[in-house]
Amino acid sequence: LQTPGAVFFIFGATGDLARRKLYPAIYSLYTEGKLAEDFAVIGVARRPRSHEEFREDIYRSIKEFCRYKVEDTAKWTQFAEHFSYKSLDINNIDGYRELRELTETVEARFDIPGNRMFYLALAPELFGSVSFNLQKGGMLSSAGWHRLVIEKPFGYDLLSAQKLNEELNQVFKEEEIYRIDHYLGKEMVQNIEVIRFANAFFEPLWNNKHIANIQITLSETVGVEERGGYYDHSGALRDMGQNHMLQMLTMIAMEAPSRLFPEDIRDEKVKVLRSLRPYSSPLEVAENVVRGQYTQGESKGKSLPGYRQEDKVAPDSNTETYFAAKVLVDNFRWAGVPFYIRTGKRLPVKTTEVVVEFKQMPTNVYLGQKHTLEPNLLVIRVNPMEGIYIKINAKKPGSESQIQPLAMEFCQSCQVGINSPEAYERLIHDAANGDSTYFTRWDEVATAWAFVDRIAAAWGQTPSDISSYPAGSWGPKEADELLAKDGFHWWPVN
Ligand code: BG6
Repeated sequence: LQTPGAVFFIFGATGDLARRKLYPAIYSLYTEGKLAEDFAVIGVARRPRSHEEFREDIYRSIKEFCRYKVEDTAKWTQFAEHFSYKSLDINNIDGYRELRELTETVEARFDIPGNRMFYLALAPELFGSVSFNLQKGGMLSSAGWHRLVIEKPFGYDLLSAQKLNEELNQVFKEEEIYRIDHYLGKEMVQNIEVIRFANAFFEPLWNNKHIANIQITLSETVGVEERGGYYDHSGALRDMGQNHMLQMLTMIAMEAPSRLFPEDIRDEKVKVLRSLRPYSSPLEVAENVVRGQYTQGESKGKSLPGYRQEDKVAPDSNTETYFAAKVLVDNFRWAGVPFYIRTGKRLPVKTTEVVVEFKQMPTNVYLGQKHTLEPNLLVIRVNPMEGIYIKINAKKPGSESQIQPLAMEFCQSCQVGINSPEAYERLIHDAANGDSTYFTRWDEVATAWAFVDRIAAAWGQTPSDISSYPAGSWGPKEADELLAKDGFHWWPVN
C-alpha cells in the first residue's frame, strides 16, 4: 500500500530517535516503493542547520542504521531533495508562521495535497505547547488531514496523562492522535494475533482449561546509557511496564475482534486491561510484584558499574531497573491463570519472549509415577530473534519407554535475516495511511496507568525496600520465588 502524499514533520530532528529510527524507516519505505515522490520531510529542531547540512545528517544516519544501503548516487539525490530543515524555537509563534511558508513551498513542489503528519520526537512536557502553537501558527489549516504522532511516555501517572490528553484534545481529535508503542510495530508482536486466531491447534487450547501460566520476558543487556536523567525519574515499571509489557499481555489475552478494524481490535485490547485484577493493598503489591536495582557486576569478563554509579543517576537512588509481577486477568477465559511478566536492564541477554506453558497431562500412562513429563510449551520469540518454538514430548529413539522433550522450531529471523522490517517503518506507514490499529488509544493508556499507579503508590510508601541484583545476572532471587510459590519456574530464555 502506497502512502498518500504528505509532509512529515519531525520535531526533534537532530535527536537520537530521529537519527537511529525515523530517517532509516523513511528510507526503507521509499526504497520499497511504499512512499512515492509526493512526500516531503521537514526536520524541526532548535539548532541552526542548512538544508544541505540536514541532508548530510540524514545520509550518515541511513548509512549507519538503515537495513537498505545507499547504492546509487542519483537515487540518493532524488530522495534527499525531499528533506528540508527549519530551525525553530518551539515557543515562538512567528517561527511556526515561517514553517508554514516553507511547508507550502514544499507542498507545491512535490504536489502534496495538504496532508500533514507531525511526529513529536520530543520530551513529553512539550507535546501540549507544540500542538497549541501548531494550531495558532496556522499549520493545521491546510486542506488535507492532520495527524499527531507522539512517543511515550504518555504522562507519568494517570493524572498527568489525563492532563496531557486534555491539552492535546484542545487541538487534535482522538482519531488524529497516534500514540506510539514501538513494541506494537514489531513483526512478531503483530504475529501473535495470527498465530492465535489462524491455527486450529492453538485457539481451542487458549484458555484456563489448558494453559497453566504465561510468562513474558523483556530483558535487556544495556544499562541506562545516556538516559540516566530520564530513567531515574521513570524506572522499569513506567518505562516498560505501563506500555510495552501490558500491551503484549493484551495481545496474548484478548478475544478475537468481531472485525479487523482498528477500533474493534482496540476495544478487545482495552477489555483485557479492564480485567486486570488491581492489587488492593501495599501488602498485595509486595506479594505479587518484585522490584530490583542492579549493582556492580560483570558480563563476559567485563566489569559493569552499578546503577547508582551511572551518569545522571542519584547516588542514593531507589529507582527500579527491574520488576517482575504476577498479574491476573479476571475474565472467563483467563480466571486462575497467572501471567508472569518481567523486565530489566543489565540482564544476561537481550530478548523478548512469550512462553505459554500448557497444563500437565491428566495421567502419565507411559512413565507411571516414576517420572514427570515436561509440560508442553509454546514460545514466541519477538526480539531480536524472531520465531516460534514448540516443545513436545516424544519417545527417545531406541529406548523402550523413555520420553524426551523435543523442540519444533521456526526461526523467522534466520530466513528473513536482517530484512525483517523495523517497527518504525510499519508505524510510520500505518499512521500515514490512517491505520491506528497498532497505536494505543486513550482508554488503553488510562487503564494501564490506573493499574500501574497502584504499584507505584505502594512502592512509594517504602522506597528503600528494593532488592538488588548484580549487573549481568537474571535479577533478584525474589522473582524466582514469585513463581515457586505457585509451583512454577521461569523457563530459561534461549
Ligand atoms: C524503550 C525504553 O521504550 O524501549 C527503553 O524507553 C528500552 O528503556 C527500549 O531500552 C527497548 O526497546 P527494544 O525495541 O530495543 O526492545
